[in-house]
Amino acid sequence: MNRIYLDWNATAPVLPEAREAMVEALSGVPGNASSVHHEGQIARTVVERARRAVAKAVNAPAQAVVLTGGATESNNQVLRHHVRVTDEPFVICTAVEHPSVIEVVRDLEQEGVRCAIWPVDAKGRLDLGWLEAKLDEGATLVSVMWANNEIGNVYPIAEIAELVHDKGATLHVDGTQALGRIPVDFNGADIDYMTLSFHKMGGPKGIGAIVLREGIKIEAILAGGHQERGRRPGTENVPAAAGLVGAMAALGEQGDAWREALQRKRALFLEALTEQAPGLELRGDLEHTLPNTLNVAFEGIDGEDFLLAADLEGVSASSGSACTAGSLEPSHVVLAMGFEHDDARRSVRFSFGPATPDEDLMEAARRVGAIVERLSALMV
Ligand SMILES: Cc1ncc(COP(=O)(O)O)c(C=O)c1O
Repeated sequence: MNRIYLDWNATAPVLPEAREAMVEALSGVPGNASSVHHEGQIARTVVERARRAVAKAVNAPAQAVVLTGGATESNNQVLRHHVRVTDEPFVICTAVEHPSVIEVVRDLEQEGVRCAIWPVDAKGRLDLGWLEAKLDEGATLVSVMWANNEIGNVYPIAEIAELVHDKGATLHVDGTQALGRIPVDFNGADIDYMTLSFHKMGGPKGIGAIVLREGIKIEAILAGGHQERGRRPGTENVPAAAGLVGAMAALGEQGDAWREALQRKRALFLEALTEQAPGLELRGDLEHTLPNTLNVAFEGIDGEDFLLAADLEGVSASSGSACTAGSLEPSHVVLAMGFEHDDARRSVRFSFGPATPDEDLMEAARRVGAIVERLSALMV
């Protein structure tokens, strides 16, 4: 039985272009990018090429890109930096942000910083009126993801940017799940800070970025090195930077085709799933969604029971649940949408990529149908 990997929002398979560039760098670039000698300068060239490649991919100036260890680190740095340099900070984030935002906001609140969580409706949508009121109350930083990792919702970033800037506040956008799936135009969307992690779109794991609007500064939150012009200390990850160059080249060449393929595959998969698993419930805002993500629930079936059965049948998906003290807590995203605990636990996320074969999606739908039938029969 072939395995079918439908968990690309957790991490995507590494693109061949990224893998080849990394292998070459691992054997051919021995230097430290901060060393002044020949080997160091070759490593430096790789890092600077990665910076330019990211800037080009998201339409931002190269000097605006700070390379980091991933979006978790980037998100922590943006939020903590803002609080450090702002008089009377007031931080807003949505209720569906990734834990690397929402948990930092909770920590900041514990530390005495004024914070508020922007609620969502039953489809995970945001009410811009709520934001306007908070901006009037003096919010200084608004943190909104471009696209949600669990339900796939895509948020109206340009509209939010206008509101935020009208009131003189700052906008942070976590673009991690958007890159490679929908067009990401940093300058066009008028963002102040954007954070990224490249393994979600086929780049290497352990490398991310903070993209800064021209004129905006960011300070390191760690001490101990001058790398990235003092904004992110620590030896640069040269093999990952090389992989990033490969991944961004693939995105530049194939991005449009990827997005088209994803739209088509999503429609195909949804049709097959609906046919194979009657009573399928769809979650999220289906009109504004990533083309690679489907969040669903099956009547009366617990998400974890489903995922275990699916894994045994060779289908890898996810629930977004977090393991807290040995018990599985439902996804905070689905809970924020107003679902009760047990109902929230039914959520299952399928996420795929441009390289997922159509036949795999059809076969996954067949296996899902059989699992749902079997689990439903056990319940009666
Ligand atoms: C929206 C979003 N932000 C941030 C992250 C964190 O990325 P990383 O684990 O690579 O630091 C993820 C990963 O799941 C994500 O989906």
